[in-house]
Amino acid sequence: RPTNSFADRLLDWWERNGRHDLPWQENRTPYRVWIAEIMLQQTQVGTVIPYFERFTTAFPDLESLGRAPIDDVLANWSGLGYYARARNLHAAAVLCLEENAGELPDEADALEALPGIGLSTANAIVAQAHDRRAPILDGNVKRVLARHAGIEGWPGRAAVLRKLWAEAELRTPDERARDYTQAIMDLGATVCTPRNPDCGDCPVAQDCMARRTDRIDELPGSKPR
Ligand code: ADE
Repeated sequence: RPTNSFADRLLDWWERNGRHDLPWQENRTPYRVWIAEIMLQQTQVGTVIPYFERFTTAFPDLESLGRAPIDDVLANWSGLGYYARARNLHAAAVLCLEENAGELPDEADALEALPGIGLSTANAIVAQAHDRRAPILDGNVKRVLARHAGIEGWPGRAAVLRKLWAEAELRTPDERARDYTQAIMDLGATVCTPRNPDCGDCPVAQDCMARRTDRIDELPGSKPR
């Protein structure tokens, strides 16, 4: 891959402006990263934090989660919504106890085979828990990349999604996978926001295609109606 000034600028920004004190960044086990990523799939960081603390206090590791009755798991999820996530967490923990010696798998493809874990979440776990290169593409990252590369169209379309994944592949650096992953998620959540992004604070605004062509509000494209 070519020298990646996109990643370098993002990492430099993150050192100074990113989030470094999220609870799942402390005592960073694969289990804790997994719980956080599942909670963050449909819920914002500020809301997730107290739920993450409660859930990981009740179930500090995979074994305690897998051995708990499902009703206890649901009770400790209550308030977060989308309860299928809690059922999938429990089912995945049971599977790991039965088939993987009580460990979460290390590899993305084995993670993706577990209930509730798609490719982006599997890669987010690999990058954050193991610091190995693994491109991610959640909602925030889709927005950053669609704008920066000027990728048109609704990301729900397969052809658009393919372009976004190609861009994610291209931009993800070989080194510092963990920090880069956190950095691009933080940029999407705090600077490259859906409405009124703070382009003045963006480390990659200088070569942002959406900005150059004045299409920030149009990218990423919305669902055709
Ligand atoms: N959104 C999804 N995963 C996240 C993480 N690890 N930190 C902040 N926001 C996120």
